[in-house]
Amino acid sequence: MKRIFGILLLFGLVFGSVRAGEGMWLPLLLQQNEAEMQRMGMKMTAEDIYSINKGSLKDAIVRFGGGCTGSLISSTGLVLTNHHCGFGQIQYHSSLENNYLDQGFWAKTLSEELPNPGLGVTFIVRIEDVTAKALAGLTEGLGERDRQAQIDRNIQVLNEQTPRETWQEVSVRPFFQGNAYYLFVTETFRDVRLVGAPPGAVGKFGADTDNWVWPRHTGDFSIFRVYADKNNRPAAYSPANVPYKPKHYLPISLDGVTPGDFTLVFGFPGTTREYLPASAVQQITETLNPIRIGIRDRSLAIIDEAMRSDPQIRIQYASKQANLANSWKKWIGESLGIKTVNGIEQKKSVEAEFMRRVNAQPQWKTAYGALLPDLEALYKEIEPYAKSRDYITEIASTNVELLRFANTLHQFVVIYENNGADALKQRKEQLRNAFTNFYKDYRPEVDQRVFAALGDLYFTKLPAAHLSPYATEQMNFAGKNADEFARILFYKSRLAQAADWAEKTEADPVQVIRLIKEDYAYQLVRNILETAEVKVFRPYNEIQDKINLLQRSYMKALMEVLKEKRFYPDANSTLRVTYGKVEGYQPKDGVFYVPFTYLDGVMEKFKPGDYEFDVPEKLRQLHASKDYGPYGENGKLPVCFLGSNHTTGGNSGSPAIDAHGNLIGLNFDRVWEGTMSDILYSPAICRNIMVDIRYVLFMVDKYAGASHLVKEMKLVHPKKKG
Ligand code: ARG
Ligand code: ASP
Repeated sequence: MKRIFGILLLFGLVFGSVRAGEGMWLPLLLQQNEAEMQRMGMKMTAEDIYSINKGSLKDAIVRFGGGCTGSLISSTGLVLTNHHCGFGQIQYHSSLENNYLDQGFWAKTLSEELPNPGLGVTFIVRIEDVTAKALAGLTEGLGERDRQAQIDRNIQVLNEQTPRETWQEVSVRPFFQGNAYYLFVTETFRDVRLVGAPPGAVGKFGADTDNWVWPRHTGDFSIFRVYADKNNRPAAYSPANVPYKPKHYLPISLDGVTPGDFTLVFGFPGTTREYLPASAVQQITETLNPIRIGIRDRSLAIIDEAMRSDPQIRIQYASKQANLANSWKKWIGESLGIKTVNGIEQKKSVEAEFMRRVNAQPQWKTAYGALLPDLEALYKEIEPYAKSRDYITEIASTNVELLRFANTLHQFVVIYENNGADALKQRKEQLRNAFTNFYKDYRPEVDQRVFAALGDLYFTKLPAAHLSPYATEQMNFAGKNADEFARILFYKSRLAQAADWAEKTEADPVQVIRLIKEDYAYQLVRNILETAEVKVFRPYNEIQDKINLLQRSYMKALMEVLKEKRFYPDANSTLRVTYGKVEGYQPKDGVFYVPFTYLDGVMEKFKPGDYEFDVPEKLRQLHASKDYGPYGENGKLPVCFLGSNHTTGGNSGSPAIDAHGNLIGLNFDRVWEGTMSDILYSPAICRNIMVDIRYVLFMVDKYAGASHLVKEMKLVHPKKKG
């Protein structure tokens, strides 16, 4: 009896009625959540959030660049996103003389706003359920490959036949592991200019030490502007473009938040895997995460030291280091979190309950009875390949820049070999840019040390069958000494030096292809990856295909067997709504975290001259004189707050919206104890971290003196009636 109760309790926790907070919902299906959202305090309707008939909140939300979110905050195209989302652009415009990463940047007029080649923002025009059309013509017993081919043809037809304007795009994406398909009509604007960014000591305050951690004091924001042609449509960069006029933009509340306030976070969460079996969660958190963590322990130690010793390297490696360190720390938190909440046990209890119900129904038993044991067997089978795959991608395609770069050049070799010199010449500019961009921020002496530190892992951790014969031969030639191998590689490879690659490309791209093919680093990485392709990636993908099929069936089975639960699809970089409330949490026995931080806390962390915790002089003055203007609250300046919104990577830059549809904050992170929410959400400790919008406005207005920008915005007081 007690055991059953325990199971039911756990069941309620994981798969029972979704608790406030959990879930990343499709905006066009919000009707199912509307009542609950209103019970939690929301004053809007589902139609106010997503509508195809009128301007709605969704028209103020953009996918920002490759992997972030932004929101429109003025009728004149201003976009708010995170500092770490605009980081690449801020860095791109920075030099030792004009170091915007350090000093911040503020355009005083439209003409000072800085264009960003390659950056785009995407609006969602409308979303349609196309499941029936995407899955049309699938016959019983079709193999996976044929099934996918049929779906691809169906999608192709949808792409061709969906009505849209000439400047709009259509894409179709799978949901619920391929049990449902949705179509997105989108509009992408490619003239997006940098308007403002706070100094790094504010935008990145606390850096890696505070990253993924509460209490937090980071002003993680930057401001851009979308430009359109004179018809308000997307256009390539042109000085003649004008600020875009959005269908909707977010009014900004100056009234702040209190515990229990309704919060809605609207954005583009990247990837979650909430429906994995216990065996897979265990593999990720106990085997694969530790591999990747171990590799980056080594590379980050080297990069960190180099950055500390040389200000030029600090700029050059700022973005690369931030990316490597961010995932590294997240994996550590994720593995810890699963342990703390007994995640594997939780998953197992749910599976036991699932099996109990399945076994009680003959037709379910036949259809679903073998799913979990089969999945478990496949996850076992894939493990050796998954481990090698992680070592190889981390070393050859991520951490060692020379290898990664040499391999990206392979695409140009292929173009030349398949399509000849003319095809290559057409891509001359791309090839030249590849060289210029790479060498701008490249320091071979740092990279050589990274290779030396990681090289031996490749040889000692991979089974012999997965190793590149060429790499093995070269390692032997270097006396099985990774330092020596690194020295030889960086001495012999021409690609390790910037030299005159860009000029050579201009003069004779075919000659450049020849040099690439002869290059030692190129040959090395190609052999590593070609061997991996046959010995590791291919078998991995074959097993993964089988896993995907079973995960699809398992998803369908879960939705059928656990009828009482409301399911949400895993994140897949499509537009989602998550909602919760402002609330703190108890990370461990005897400790409760309140959900607010203030500028006083910035001063408590202040370490003069420290690269993570320095505070700009002007901010210290404003703090000393308590000169907070309309942005303070009882003599204090709010900085960050917490909510129980279910977010993930990609939600960075997402607006936090109040019960009425006003902007109250800017999402940028999650708390350390809850980073496992990508595989298992725990309502008690999963919290997202947002910058209070009043801190953003304070920085723009009082700190930077860019009050002209605040004038473009619409400030409101929803809590102070009348
Ligand atoms: N952890 C946050 C996210 O995943 C913020 C990352 C940016 N900050 C940093 N120190 N790398 O993106
Ligand atoms: N910091 C993340 C991002 O950049 C958000 C998160 O993982 O919570 O998207």
